[in-house]
Amino acid sequence: MSNSKYILVTGGAGYIGSHTVVELVENGFSPVIVDDFRNSQESSIDGIERITGKSVTLRRIDVCDFASLEGVFSEFNFEGIIHFAAHKAVGESVEKPLAYYRNNLLGLINCLDLAVKYKVENFVFSSSCTIYGEPKNEKVVTEESEIQIANSPYGNTKQIGEEIINDLVASGANIKILNLRYFNPVGAHFSSQIGELPIGKPNNLLPAVAQTAIGKIDKITVHGNDYDTTDGTCVRDYIHVTDVANAHVKGIAWLQSQKNSLVENINIGTGQGTSVLEIIHTFEEVSGRKLNWEFGKRREGDVVEIYADVTKSKAILNWEAKKTVKDAVKDAWNWEKRISD
Ligand code: NAD
Ligand code: WQD
Repeated sequence: MSNSKYILVTGGAGYIGSHTVVELVENGFSPVIVDDFRNSQESSIDGIERITGKSVTLRRIDVCDFASLEGVFSEFNFEGIIHFAAHKAVGESVEKPLAYYRNNLLGLINCLDLAVKYKVENFVFSSSCTIYGEPKNEKVVTEESEIQIANSPYGNTKQIGEEIINDLVASGANIKILNLRYFNPVGAHFSSQIGELPIGKPNNLLPAVAQTAIGKIDKITVHGNDYDTTDGTCVRDYIHVTDVANAHVKGIAWLQSQKNSLVENINIGTGQGTSVLEIIHTFEEVSGRKLNWEFGKRREGDVVEIYADVTKSKAILNWEAKKTVKDAVKDAWNWEKRISD
């Protein structure tokens, strides 16, 4: 094992990446961010610096540009890589499939290629619960649950990404890889210095709720009220982004402790399901504001109910979510107020 504390964080200026960079610094690592800010803002770097009191090491590079990325590998002796950089909007991926396949797959291939070339053995890949699709006869999914045919090009990039990783490890490459399958990351850093910065009208529930509460959106539509769930609305496993970030630190530490090449898939969720209406009511309680919402049609492609079995993350990573959905809602609201000042 090398003594380097440098961790390459691609997409480190983004939503989950920025929170992970904070957790890495707080746990004694030296993160190096590679990001070209195609879906993030410089203000996230300032936020990280305010929280940690340390200056951020940043290289403004497109991970699809192999030569520039290789320059970063020759500059730093990395102990590990956390690969977040990707496009992530499901709807947009249907309209621009090639942009999604190019960015998400080429970026991953470049990072894996350079990891092997520069003997960086510890690698974490951002996968997603989207690969489980609509689970058959179960609401809680384990890592062994069947992977369903992807219902969007975005989801397919995560499935193919995991397959590329499996093939690389099977080829005998000297690399240890964790595919972290996040459920629904929400909330913001409790300091309100970093959080989610959606560009345009948000598709995801929490930013849409927060923007309705602050008045940027007139009314939020709840997509469907006739599902076979406790209150008729869809159920998800919403997990605080700081908990997600911490799972990466635990993940890197676990990989460091392993001797042989491996690939492990691990769910990153709370193990609890929460409905859309429960989120709205929690938001109203936390913010003290009445939300303007209405029921609308079902949203095409929505999974009805899914949450994570978290046995494996506890057993292997010694990690579990510490914050509640209410904590996440509170932090999302404080963040929205701050960026709307
Ligand atoms: P994000 O868009 O906030 O962050 C991604 C970052 O990567 C951005 O800063 C963007 O500028 C950067 N980036 C994208 N392509 C790049 C490229 N070619 N070169 C350099 N930088 C590039 O997204 P996020 O929510 O933080 O998601 C991070 C990862 O987690 C993604 O891989 C995403 O697919 C995955 N994921 C996200 C969620 C979620 O709900 N947020 C759920 C499951 C998985
Ligand atoms: C949650 C629930 C909506 C907005 C997405 C990606 C998935 C993964 C996580 C990356 C659903 C409802 C939403 C609104 C609503 N990301 N909703 N009104 O769909 O679980 O997953 O993020 O890997 O791939 O698809 O999250 O936040 O979009 O929706 O009623 O205005 O909120 O219908 O039931 P989702 P979401």
